[in-house]
Amino acid sequence: MKFLELAEKRYSVRAYKPDPVEEDKLNQVLEAARLAPTAVNAQPFQLIVIHTAGREAELNRIYRKDWFVQAPLVIGICGIPAQGWVRRDGKNYTEVDVAIAMDHLILAATDAGLGTCWVGAFDPEAAREVLGLPDDVEPIAFTPLGYPADQPKSKKRKPLSELVRYERW
Ligand SMILES: Cc1cc2nc3c(=O)[nH]c(=O)nc-3n(C[C@H](O)[C@H](O)[C@H](O)COP(=O)(O)O)c2cc1C
Repeated sequence: MKFLELAEKRYSVRAYKPDPVEEDKLNQVLEAARLAPTAVNAQPFQLIVIHTAGREAELNRIYRKDWFVQAPLVIGICGIPAQGWVRRDGKNYTEVDVAIAMDHLILAATDAGLGTCWVGAFDPEAAREVLGLPDDVEPIAFTPLGYPADQPKSKKRKPLSELVRYERW
């Protein structure tokens, strides 16, 4: 698939079939995250692969939507700020690195015919408790991973003319 077709095909899936995700497909999407670039190649993140079966109630403490636990898997990505690159002015790039890794994972899932949905509006305290996260580990995003049971809507995006400036602000 051409890259722009893949970017167009990805959408936020908010209904999932219960069908299992094949192990090779899971490994493909995890590998895509592993290959993602990170500042100074620090890879300051951990991915947590969570099987939803039997854990629906506690996972819904993290994010309350029914569709969050419909897929067989949920993937969480956590940053470890102490391992991330810090710019001279003090800006820690861990969240940038995490976002790139998650986007790689999500696009690889689309390429494998799987559905995902970025979830940022989760309860971080519940995530800490349910997943047993150490204090220096920050949960940053989750996504279900499974086969879509809904249909994409047409993409609404600002036109390039509203998003791009040339040469200077
Ligand atoms: C960082 C980030 C956080 C998001 N958090 C949520 C969320 O908590 N719940 C949700 O339903 N969608 C969430 N989304 C999905 C966006 O709403 C969605 O990507 C956007 O509306 C564009 O739609 P599309 O993904 O179908 O192209 C999030 C997306 C991003 C990139």
